[in-house]
Amino acid sequence: MTQPRIWMNGELLDPERAVVSVFDHGMLVGDGVFETVKAAHGEPFALTRHLRRLARSAAGLGLPEPDHDGLAQGTLEVLAAAPKWPLARIRITYTSGPGPLGSDRGDAGPTVSIIAAEQSPLPATADVTVTPWPRNERGALAGLKTTSYAENALALAYARERGGGEAILGNIADNLCEGTGSNVFVVRGGRLVTPPLSAGCLAGVTRELVLEWCGGEEEDVPLEEFARVDEAFLTSTTRDVQPIRAVDGTVLPAAPGPVTAKAMEAFAARAADLMDP
Ligand SMILES: Cc1ncc(COP(=O)(O)O)c(C=O)c1O
Repeated sequence: MTQPRIWMNGELLDPERAVVSVFDHGMLVGDGVFETVKAAHGEPFALTRHLRRLARSAAGLGLPEPDHDGLAQGTLEVLAAAPKWPLARIRITYTSGPGPLGSDRGDAGPTVSIIAAEQSPLPATADVTVTPWPRNERGALAGLKTTSYAENALALAYARERGGGEAILGNIADNLCEGTGSNVFVVRGGRLVTPPLSAGCLAGVTRELVLEWCGGEEEDVPLEEFARVDEAFLTSTTRDVQPIRAVDGTVLPAAPGPVTAKAMEAFAARAADLMDP
């Protein structure tokens, strides 16, 4: 399958022309931010929330404010140029642009790209692996969706080697934080709980929608209790609500359990109604 056209710095280009300088600071030091947006049959889901978060991540890195309307338009142009896949993943990447070889930034202006690709549905449940490396909830990048994702790439490879579909990270305080590309909800004593943003997790768009549509409380969960919860699920743009079947090989009582099943149903019903909630 050929790759559809790519939006770069305001222009829709054939893939072979959509190239980034080797001096780009995104490439040299991971100095950039990004979003992954889902599209169903050519229509993006929750694009406004994703673009707002991109702006928050850019502000967190001290980058110029991204052009919200230009990126929304670019996303629609990329989707219009792509096949009408049932499910697609759109990647918006915004870096500080070409810069010096060290950590100082250049002043050439940002590099922005928007790419679409077909997305296969994810498995019905996930087995997860807890990694030995904590997220630093007090770090400068905590809560920002930056292109400095090598830590996540390493954690996911660690999980895959152990048969896991997602890697889970705790934080410095030994509480549950998030997955490499997902947030985590657990059910303890009948209550639906997810770590607060102060735990260092990303403010996931899906997490936010689950809290609004399905309820749930933000509360720290000791990492050591994670494998002993009644139910757990992951949330992310590509997963929606995905039940966790096992934590480090310990199979949870049910996947989905009753609270998870209710959340899945409520999320699917609301998301089918509203493309830009
Ligand atoms: C580290 C991290 N946490 C959580 C999420 C889930 O966020 P969202 O629901 O906005 O996809 C992501 C998304 O890819 C992520 O990269």
